[in-house]
Amino acid sequence: MKIYQNGQETNDAALTTCNNTNEGLNRARSTKNDEFYTQYEDIALELEHYDLKGKSVYCPCDDYRKSQFVKCFTDNYEALGLTGLCATNYNLGDGAYKYEYDGRNTFVTELQGDGDFRSEECTSIRDDYDVIITNPPFSLAGDFVVWAAKKEFLILGNTNLITLKNVFPLIKKNKIWLGCTNYNTGMLFRLPDDSASFKYVDEHDNKLGRVSTSCWWTNLENDRAYNILVLNKTYNPESYPVYDDCDAIEVSKVCNIPCDYDGVMGVPITFLDKFNPDQFIILAIGSFMLNGRKTYKRILIRRRKANEANAIGVREVETDSIDFKKLCEFYKSANKSDVLRSEDGFSARFVNKGNIWDTGFELTDEVSGKSETFMLGNRVKDFVSLLEHKEALDYIEYDIDFWLYCCQEERKAA
Ligand SMILES: C[S@@+](CC[C@H](N)C(=O)[O-])C[C@H]1O[C@@H](n2cnc3c(N)ncnc32)[C@H](O)[C@@H]1O
Repeated sequence: MKIYQNGQETNDAALTTCNNTNEGLNRARSTKNDEFYTQYEDIALELEHYDLKGKSVYCPCDDYRKSQFVKCFTDNYEALGLTGLCATNYNLGDGAYKYEYDGRNTFVTELQGDGDFRSEECTSIRDDYDVIITNPPFSLAGDFVVWAAKKEFLILGNTNLITLKNVFPLIKKNKIWLGCTNYNTGMLFRLPDDSASFKYVDEHDNKLGRVSTSCWWTNLENDRAYNILVLNKTYNPESYPVYDDCDAIEVSKVCNIPCDYDGVMGVPITFLDKFNPDQFIILAIGSFMLNGRKTYKRILIRRRKANEANAIGVREVETDSIDFKKLCEFYKSANKSDVLRSEDGFSARFVNKGNIWDTGFELTDEVSGKSETFMLGNRVKDFVSLLEHKEALDYIEYDIDFWLYCCQEERKAA
C-alpha cells in the first residue's frame, strides 16, 4: 500500500519516526471517535499465525458494508476452514444488521436492537460462535475484552489495555496474551470519508489515521515466539533505586533489566512484548513513588526461579484458595504439568523427581517468591492411590495448611 502525507509519498520508516506520539490514540479518545477501520492487510497478516480450522467466527462492531474483517473472512472462508461467519454493527443512524455467511450464501437481517456488543442480542450471538474477532471501540476496550474472553477471541486493541483494572488480572493469570504482529508499531486505520482531521491518505485517496500504540490481544494459541530476553546489565543499588512506597526496584528501560536480581522490579509496560512466561512472573501493575515523584505505569515482575514451573504450554487452573483437599482433587484429574493458582497469590504444581515415591507438591507464595516442596512419601505405587492413602497424607495436609498460614501471617506483618 502506498501512503501519502501532505501530497508526498512517504514510507513506513518515516512513519515509524513520527509514530512515537500518542497523537492518534489521544485524538480518538478526546473526540470519542471510535470510527477507525482496520485494513485488510493488517488483518490477513495477523491471521497467518492462528489455526481457525473448524471454528465459527463472530465479528461484533463490524458493519458488513465496510468491514475488512468481514471481507477477509468471507474471501478466505474455505482456506481458513471456517464453519460459520457472522458480523453485527452498531447503529450509527444507518441501521444495525446481522450478516451471516456459510461459505456459499449470505444472509442479512436487521437486528432488533442497536448492535451494542453488550446487548442480550449480541451476547447470545457471541455464545453461538467459537471465536470473537474484531477491532472494538477504543473507549470500551476493557469491557469488550471481559465480554469477549468468555469465548476464544482475537482483537485489535492497544498496549495500554494492560493498565485496565478488569484486563490486568487476565494478563497476569496468563488467560490472555499478545498477538503476533504490529505491536506498538503505529498502525494506520481508514477513517470515515467525511473526517475533517486526517494526516495520511492511501493511493486511492482514502483518509487514514495512525494509532501509535495498537496491538493484538488474544486467548487463542498462536505461533508467537517466546524468546528468552537476553539480559546484559548487572544490579547495583545506585542504578536501580528502590521505590519509596513499594519494595521493588525501578528499571526504567526494558533493556536495563539486571540479570542477577531476584527481587521484584518495576518495568515499563512495553515489557509485555518481551515477556516470556518461562523467564519472568508478572506480579502487579501500578504507578509508584520514586524520590517523591510518581513514575509512569510500571509492571512489577520478578525472574522465574530455575526450578519454578515453566508456564509455556502449562494449563493454569484457578481456585479461590489452595488447601490440601483441593490440591489432591486437582491433581487427580489434571495434567501433571498444570498449575493450580489461587486468587490470594499462591500457586501449586506437581513435582516428581523421578519415582512415584519422590512425588509431591511445590507451593509458591507469588507475593514473596517463597516456595516449599511437600513430598508425599513412598508407600503406594501410583499417584492417584497415593493421594487416597489417608494415613500417609495426614501430616502433609497439616504441613501445607501450616505453611500457607505462616506465609499469610508474614504478608500481614510486612
Ligand atoms: C475502532 S472501530 C472498528 C470498526 C471495525 N471493527 C473495523 O475494525 O474496521 C470500532 C467500531 O465499534 C463501534 N461501536 C462503538 N460502540 C459500540 C458498542 N457499544 N457496541 C458495538 N459496537 C460499537 C463503532 O461504531 C465503530 O465502528
